Amino acid sequence: MNVVDLIRDNIRGLSPYVSARDKYISGDLLDANENPFGSVGAKENPLALNRYPDPAQRALRNSLGAYLDVDHARLFFGVGSDEIIDLLLRVFCQPARDAVAIFEPTYGMFRVAADVHGVETKRFDLSEEFQLPAELPEELKRGEAKLAFLCSPNNPVGPALRKADVLNFARKFEGIVVVDEAYIDFAPDASVYRETAILPNLVVTRTFSKAWGLAGARCGYCVADPVVVDFLMKTKAPYSINKMTERAVLDALDRPEEKDEYVERIVAERERLAAALRAIDAIETVFPSEANFILVRTPGAPALQKRMAERGVIVRDRSSQPRLEDTIRISVGTAEENDRMLEALKASL
Ligand SMILES: Cc1ncc(COP(=O)(O)O)c(C=O)c1O
Repeated sequence: MNVVDLIRDNIRGLSPYVSARDKYISGDLLDANENPFGSVGAKENPLALNRYPDPAQRALRNSLGAYLDVDHARLFFGVGSDEIIDLLLRVFCQPARDAVAIFEPTYGMFRVAADVHGVETKRFDLSEEFQLPAELPEELKRGEAKLAFLCSPNNPVGPALRKADVLNFARKFEGIVVVDEAYIDFAPDASVYRETAILPNLVVTRTFSKAWGLAGARCGYCVADPVVVDFLMKTKAPYSINKMTERAVLDALDRPEEKDEYVERIVAERERLAAALRAIDAIETVFPSEANFILVRTPGAPALQKRMAERGVIVRDRSSQPRLEDTIRISVGTAEENDRMLEALKASL
């Protein structure tokens, strides 16, 4: 399969915006109509916020490339992985003509982003164990979807998809397979990012918002074939990743062991929380999780969520998702937050 053939016609032929900083990054910078004196409110201004950030994301791509042992040409940064989902739709899907496939229950943004672009969403079911179906659905064999969005570990349920199934799917599907690995730091063995080197239609998206603790910085990335990265680069806004975010992410990439420590702490709390939830009679199911949240089934979940909110504990009602009636998704908090959550839950049942 040649991924270029899958690119939307107007994007394949796009002559992109050429930024002032694509070629020159030093010298007397009189090319981008910036304020040469400084930035209002920033006395020291160590990041030189009066200057635009690097549109080619060079420092970020080099640093992440070293961390992942992946060539920088296979890496692309977005304003959260949500921006990358949006850009993939822009690059590959023609509004009112193309379609995407999702496997439910899954992350809600896939369908919302497709709707925003006027792209149809074809919905399929994950298996009872929340895994991919053994066979590619007939409709997808006929090339009726341009992109398939998979989520591993799966939000809102929790299990990772079996790696062999994902790769098998990517080999059979004649379109782009996007694997959203937002929670992969909690299940690193399930990652398929290395296989993007042998499967040009495989795109793995990830985020700094979860295990890395940088949700407020808004930064995600994808690992993909250099051709896909190239078209994402051409399509994005020129200066999408701002300098403060770039600094925060570069600092984080200098200290990946801190992320590993957070993962350990969160997983330990998750297991303690799961045991405590299993001990509550009214909780019918505690779904197994390989992420930083736990989904539970309990009768009257939507009303329960509201009663818990009145007690100051905010959890997410997921009952409207297919096959998830009467479920609540609980993010793993600190030990104190989890204790307060358990108290509020018991009092609200
Ligand atoms: C599966 C999944 N993908 C992507 C995101 C969004 O990530 P980001 O903060 O990088 O946009 C989330 C956020 O909850 C998520 O659950």
